[in-house]
Parts: sequence; structure tokens; C-alpha cells
Amino acid sequence: MKTAISTKTISSAETPLLAIMVSQGGAQPLKDSSLERAFATGDYKGKKDETLLVYGVAKAERLLLVGVGKTSEVTRSAIRRGAAIAAKRARGLGTKALSITVAKEARAGLGAAELAQVLIEGAAQGGWQFTELKKQPEDPKPELESVELIVEPGDKEEAEAGRRIGDAIAAGYLFTRNLQMQPGNVCTPSYLADQARKLAEKYKFGVTILDLAQIKKEGMGALLAVAQGSAEEPRFIVLEYQGGSGAPIVLIGKGVTFDSGGISIKPALNMEDMKFDKSGATAVLGTFEVLGRLKPKINVVGLIPATENLPSGTAIKPGDVVKSHLGKTIEIINTDAEGRLILSDALSYARRFKPAAAIDAATLTGAVVIALGHHAIGMLGNDEALLAEVRDAGERAGERCWPLPLWDDYRELLKSDVADVKNSGGRAAGTIAGAWFLREFVDGSFPWVHLDIAGTAYLEGEGVSHAKGPTAIGVRLFTEFLLKRAGA
Ligand code: BES
Ligand code: MN
Ligand code: ZN
Repeated sequence: MKTAISTKTISSAETPLLAIMVSQGGAQPLKDSSLERAFATGDYKGKKDETLLVYGVAKAERLLLVGVGKTSEVTRSAIRRGAAIAAKRARGLGTKALSITVAKEARAGLGAAELAQVLIEGAAQGGWQFTELKKQPEDPKPELESVELIVEPGDKEEAEAGRRIGDAIAAGYLFTRNLQMQPGNVCTPSYLADQARKLAEKYKFGVTILDLAQIKKEGMGALLAVAQGSAEEPRFIVLEYQGGSGAPIVLIGKGVTFDSGGISIKPALNMEDMKFDKSGATAVLGTFEVLGRLKPKINVVGLIPATENLPSGTAIKPGDVVKSHLGKTIEIINTDAEGRLILSDALSYARRFKPAAAIDAATLTGAVVIALGHHAIGMLGNDEALLAEVRDAGERAGERCWPLPLWDDYRELLKSDVADVKNSGGRAAGTIAGAWFLREFVDGSFPWVHLDIAGTAYLEGEGVSHAKGPTAIGVRLFTEFLLKRAGA
């Protein structure tokens, strides 16, 4: 998706589709009799998500008004969403190009840079479609090739700066979404490793890939336990970006390329969605795509434990006890609680980097969907300042995080009769128990936040601003976090 900033007047824009974002209570954006009528009759108000498609206005082939809600309530997220709606419509109409502008009142207090950034983020979100595995797509439509943002001449320079960030985030976001979409027979642990290798080559990152023998040698008993039921070998991926000085931020992503549950097998209904159990890993990889493009002044390490979780004669069984990388022993109660197992070894491995902070993203528990639905990431950690920082990044990114408590009281859920800790505490407080398990392996070594993205990594149905399927959750949040830390 190519983007450009233009300072032409909206009435002179020759484009197949001109989208104008308007707010409720804002002035009508363009002198035209049919628009005047739509506003004067009150048929069109600019309410959130309200659209109006008209023909024969000014020089544009089509004009689309997109409502962003009340003038006083416009946010970054509202603008991003509006751009996504416009891009989704462009995709549906099959126009390869889209021009977007924001009416004065709809802009709220947003600066020109962040405005351009979120418009591009939104366009990437709404324009996405995955057809690469179809031989014959029904009703094929061309890609959205170019997006033009029309701004006031005085905003041009700032908008260009925002475009640079928006373009990078859009690239990382699209990379992640396409990777998430790959089925389990394509995207295996070694495929994820190849993706990391390619990124490293393209952007000169450091990269280390541990294969089965090296994972054994490293003593990652928990990752090995999950992988031992599969014919596909596990991988442990380390990516290193050096853009600054000082201790790195470590990003960790759960990379289960398919989660059947193992011997504690899942029900068949919707099990195909468990190809999305690698979404934490793909978010980390997409963030490295962004880092490669923006080169912020900061050091970042990406860690991805990658494996399948399958049942077989060699699979791990309930009751088995395994020794983790940290040395703590784990009683396996439920083989479907595999994410925390592989992450525990990654968190233990992270210590060697002496992280300034570590953030993990994982589709860890069904319980977070019960608690928060599909609108928020469950957020837990061991450091209040870091929790606040991550939450702020999520607000800016439109990837909201909501805190759950990690009080000592909950630790009891994981007491084992035979080992140091057990991997499941039953149904009560499932998301908290999962996070407490991870905390056992952070062991107070560094500030850490866990993001449970099981409810937000993919959507089961089509939305107004979003296609069904993967969301690339985490890419925008990680980027916002890192850019702020880098002082950019
Ligand atoms: N990958 C699942 C969690 C999940 C559920 C992701 C729904 C996306 C949508 C995870 O590995 C899992 O199976 N968790 C178990 C943990 C339990 C056995 C303690 C769960 O949530 O049921
Ligand atoms: Mn599972
Ligand atoms: Zn899982």
C-alpha cells in the first residue's frame, strides 16, 4: 500500500473515491447541493460509523462521508476507525486508490503527525484481505494500492513525519496479519524461524535459532515437553535489534503454531482457530519489521518459543513432571496449558539480557475472553510503573489493556503435591493463574508485563472496520511503547 500526502483542495481531487471524515455537529465539509440537502434534512449527521456514498460531487468519482461521532468526543481511535471504514469500502468497491481527508471539526485536538499516522494505520486495517490460498476467489477485487491524505498546506511537513511512522506500522501490521492467517501446515515452528531469519537478513538484525538439539542442550525442558508429541521440531528464536545504548527491552511472543490441546485434547468445534495460537509470536515479528524501517534509538530483543501442541504416543501426559530451564520442576495437570510452559523457558532465557523491561504477548487463556470479551487485552505484571506505561501505549495504539490483579493470594492455585509448581489451577481465575505461573519464572529478575491476547488476536466475525480473522494485535502497542521509550 503506497501512501502520499497532498495539499490540493478537496474539490479539485480527481480520485475514484474521496473519503471525508466528519463529526456530529461539525459543518458540512464541501459546498455541494446534494450534500447540503443530506445535512439540512438531518438524514446524515456524522454519527459514529455513519456513512454516505454520493456520486457526482466535485471532481471525485465517488464521495464517501464517514462519521466519527460527536465533535467533543473524537479520539485517535475514532479517526483510525473512520479510515478503516473508508478503506474497507474502497476494497468492496474495488477502487485501487483512495483519498482521505478529515474535516476541521472532526480532527479534535490531534496534531498533523499523529493524524497522518493513524489514518494510514486505519487504511491498512480496513483494506486488508487474504486471498493468497484461493485459486478462484469469488468476486475478485483488486488490492487497495494507494492512499492519499489531503491536508492543509501548513500541515504538510508534520504529516510527512507521521506518514513515515504510519507506513512502517502498516507494513508490520500487514506482515503480522498475513503470517497469522497461514494455516498450521504452512506456518510450522521452522517456518516462523525462516521468517525471523529473513527479517534479520533484510534489516541486519542479530538472529539465533535454536533447533531441537540446541534446545535440549540449553535445558529448556518445558518447551521440549510441549514439543515431544509432534513430528515437527520446535525452534527457539532470538532476534536482536541494536539501535541505542543501555539495557534492552525484551519482547516475548507465544509461538504455538497449532494448539490441539495435546492429550487433554480440545473439542472439535472451532479448533481450526487454534492456528492463531502463534499470534504473540507474529506480533513480535511484525514489530521487528517496524523497527527495521524506523530504526529508533533503543535496543530490543525478540524471543519466540515455537512449537506445535499435538497428542501422540510420545506426547506429554497429565501427571508428568518436567524440569524447566530455570530449574523449577513443573507438574503437568493439563497439557492444554502449554503456552505458559514454553513461555516459562523464554522468560528464564531472557535473564541473560538483563532486560530494562520484558513484555510478553500470548493467546494464553480462554478465561480472558470470559473476563473482557474481544475489546481488551488482559494485562498483568510485577511492576506498577511498567504496567502504566504499557497501558498508555495501548491507548495510543487503539489496543486497549485492562489490568487484572496478581495478588499473592492467587499463587496458591498453582501449588503442586509433587513438583515446585503445577501448570493449571483449574477454572477459577484462569487468566490470573496463567500469569502467576509466568511470574514464577520471571522470579523477580526484571520488570515484566504479560499481555493475554486470547480475546483480541482474531475476530470470529466481520466487523464494520475490520475483516473477520486476525487483528495483528500487539504490533501497534509494541511500537508505541518502543518509540516512546526511545524518546522519538
Ligand atoms: N491457546 C489456548 C487459549 C485460547 C483460548 C486462545 C481461546 C484463543 C482462544 C491455551 O493454550 C489454552 O488452551 N488454555 C487453557 C488453559 C487451561 C487448560 C488452564 C484454557 O484457557 O482453557
Ligand atoms: Mn492450549
Ligand atoms: Zn495455546
